[in-house]
Amino acid sequence: RILIIDFGSQVTQLIARRVREGGVYCEIHPFNATTEASIRAFAPKGVILSGGPASVVAADTPRAPEGLFDMGLPVLGICYGQQTMVAQLGGRVASGEHREFGRAFLDVTEPCVLFENTWEVGAREQVWMSHGDRVDALPEGFRVVGTSEGAPFAAIADDARRFYGVQFHPEVVHTPHGAALLRNFTQTVCGCAGDWTMAAFRAEAIDRIRAQVGDGKVICGLSGGVDSSVVAALVHEAIGSQLTCVFVDHGLLRQGERDEVEQVFRDRFNINLVTVDAGPLFLDKLAGETDPEKKRKTIGATFIDVFEEEARRIGGADFLAQGTLYPDVIESVSFHGGPSVTIKSHHNVGGLPERMNMALVEPLRELFKDEVRALGRELGLPETMVGRHPFPGPGLAIRIPGQPLTAEALDLLRKVDAIYLEEIRSAGLYDAIWQAFAVLLPVRTVGVMGDARSYDQAVALRAVTSSDGMTADYFPFDHTFLGRVANRIINEVKGVNRVTYDITSKPPGTIEWE
Ligand code: XMP
Repeated sequence: RILIIDFGSQVTQLIARRVREGGVYCEIHPFNATTEASIRAFAPKGVILSGGPASVVAADTPRAPEGLFDMGLPVLGICYGQQTMVAQLGGRVASGEHREFGRAFLDVTEPCVLFENTWEVGAREQVWMSHGDRVDALPEGFRVVGTSEGAPFAAIADDARRFYGVQFHPEVVHTPHGAALLRNFTQTVCGCAGDWTMAAFRAEAIDRIRAQVGDGKVICGLSGGVDSSVVAALVHEAIGSQLTCVFVDHGLLRQGERDEVEQVFRDRFNINLVTVDAGPLFLDKLAGETDPEKKRKTIGATFIDVFEEEARRIGGADFLAQGTLYPDVIESVSFHGGPSVTIKSHHNVGGLPERMNMALVEPLRELFKDEVRALGRELGLPETMVGRHPFPGPGLAIRIPGQPLTAEALDLLRKVDAIYLEEIRSAGLYDAIWQAFAVLLPVRTVGVMGDARSYDQAVALRAVTSSDGMTADYFPFDHTFLGRVANRIINEVKGVNRVTYDITSKPPGTIEWE
């Protein structure tokens, strides 16, 4: 396996993804929590130093751990990682007047193991750069293997010590052959086999769960979303009937969701599944509330109460299984400090494990979302579940803005949403979209249906593309598609007489309306 030492680049996670896509397991550790001892304990076959926002030229900026370069391990420095390696080994870094941001070209000047089978000497390769400083003089033992306009030492190598450095970012898609370069480093230089797969992960995870749980009892909150579904299937495979899943139906779900969860987990996987019918309780608690944050808080608190009561009723659980993913775990290196502004409070069930005095089982802690999906497929979960769009914890409650939540409003929205998603699926567009849903607007408009005047509610449809939910763009449906969906909704859902399509991107909008 490979250790990635993080100096705070925006794209460090992409290094990990590319390395894992190449079949090599790796982890990201923040520079300020990495020591020679922690590296020895992790026992990597090689180390990658990430980029970062600081300047090597300035005093008191991050460095690779003391001793790393004497451990006999191969090291690849990327951008800031290259610069700090050069500085720490006795070379020189200069504050550049030759800043390069975005697309640049690398001239391959000498053969190098990093370029094997991909880049020929004399080739001009597109790479992605983002640097102000640059290497100015090489430490002893290094040679230049590639140059760019702004960086005469754009790619460097010390084959004897197996130290390599690149000024560009091989981990981003704008460096088209970057993945091959990383594979050459991890496999050819470091000697990793490149055979890390989801099947291997599944077997290891099952062993770990068994070792942790012993003959203890585990409960797991199942929502029907990808993460909790994969956790449930995996833990069940490890410990069978020692697992009980609790599905809290808060009445804010989409059409058919509860049935699907029950069919898959109870009928097919034969998992102990307790469904709590809490719809009326949630509606009661939410009565008259229209403030988005208060709705979230109420739903979060009520969820915990219901779950806790159910766990107590089941009794004797020592562990709580949870679908925490790698991006939630990686301690991000922050240079700017200060808490960021809360736009929306997403932590729906925070605080549960502490309150319930249970140990956590978190088998997905090392995985990225797409890896969780691959694991779900490996475990035999249906594609509709594994490939599902994200769905917020507070569910349809935050898609009925500015009006009281009622059973009727929820019903109306569920019908609209189901038609919309059905059309998206049958047009073959579901997988091209990050998230698609309908919003029930707090406004009545006049229409004419048949010969009569109607005065009914309006809905907005939303569909976005995104890679992580942090930024998003509206999905460019063609007009025929939108027309067909609008027609069906107005004809089939009594109480709705107008349909609009939301073309706001994020930012400045958010994905959800609340
Ligand atoms: P926004 O609306 O902030 O959404 O652009 C980004 C992603 O987060 C989801 N979302 C939530 N998820 N609890 C959740 O579990 C919430 O309160 C919540 N609010 C938004 C949203 O669906 C999108 O995927």
